[in-house]
Amino acid sequence: MVDHAPSPSQTMRTVRLLDTASGLDGVIAIHSTALGPGAGGCRFWRYPDIEAATRDACRLAKGMSYKNAMAELPLGGAKAVLRYPEGDFDRAALFRAFGKAVDALGGVYVTAEDVGTSVADMAQVSTMTRHVAGLDPTEDMAGGDPSPWTALGVFDAMRTAARLTLDAELADLTVAVQGVGNVGASLCRQLAEAGAKLIIADIDAARCQALAGELGATIVDVAEIAAADADIFAPCALGGALTQESVAAMKARLVCGAANNQLATPEVADALLARGIVYAPDYVVNAGGIINVSAEYLGEDEASVRTRVSRIGPRVARLLEQAAREGRSAAMVADEMAEAIIAGAAEKAA
Ligand code: NAI
Repeated sequence: MVDHAPSPSQTMRTVRLLDTASGLDGVIAIHSTALGPGAGGCRFWRYPDIEAATRDACRLAKGMSYKNAMAELPLGGAKAVLRYPEGDFDRAALFRAFGKAVDALGGVYVTAEDVGTSVADMAQVSTMTRHVAGLDPTEDMAGGDPSPWTALGVFDAMRTAARLTLDAELADLTVAVQGVGNVGASLCRQLAEAGAKLIIADIDAARCQALAGELGATIVDVAEIAAADADIFAPCALGGALTQESVAAMKARLVCGAANNQLATPEVADALLARGIVYAPDYVVNAGGIINVSAEYLGEDEASVRTRVSRIGPRVARLLEQAAREGRSAAMVADEMAEAIIAGAAEKAA
């Protein structure tokens, strides 16, 4: 394991992970520990080279700093990115080697599940270090699947944002949901319960049909969902749903969903603003997941998770109100707020 200096931001620290015996090859990027240990999941994916993996780790670590700060968690931001090995490898051994590397950092980094990793992988990590979250829940500790908590936060944020910006209740609105996986389906159930009309799309046709049958939702093609005849667009699939093209064709007046990195480029925030479409920033809206995952590590119970998740709606309201007052994108206001929280904590610690 080698600590090396080059980094895309002044505070970023990267730790190279290399263990030929197990095939471990990756990087831990630590963006900030001003608020607490750098927390962020471990991504296990194919990357052409370590430079590409490092770029992704740094980008994601910065995102985690902002997300954790805005969720008012006592955590900084970090991320691990591991390259998926070519050929055969012993998965358990690889994650044990990763756990050893995490442990060697002495708690500066707390890992968890992310794209390409599972609870079983984290169980292997936990044999080598206690700096891991996202394991199975115990009797008095929160934990387990974060998706229902993420969906609850998105639902609350959407209801608050709809009242504020559309002057309407969800019962009088139509919501277009892109992606009805773990979070999207849970969100749809809450929306249906609240009386909202639903338009849904998913590349998994069977999943889409099953949910439409259960909730009476209308199905549209995945290519049509962003331009669907709806009041609210909820991206709950992969990142990059908001592009210049999708925003130009959008009929919805509010965007509020679970997906990470919804803006394909930062300029899309301006395009939304120019069209008068209100955007509730993704990482503020979808913080329920990290709140649940980190609760295990922080030793918090389910009641604390519920309290923290219940603050997402009011936080989104404050952001949207400030953005409207200043005629700016809420995405920009959120970034500035997160940076101020992190800078304030760093100053206090200095
Ligand atoms: P998931 O994998 O369970 O669901 C994603 C769904 O989107 C799948 O049903 C998939 O078939 C569908 N999909 C993929 N590409 C699509 C496309 N082009 N058009 C329509 N549907 C498409 O994932 P999950 O856990 O529900 O997460 C959804 C999003 O929310 C992801 O972006 C994730 O990063 C983000 N998120 C999830 C959290 C959680 O607690 N699970 C926490 C924070 C963010």
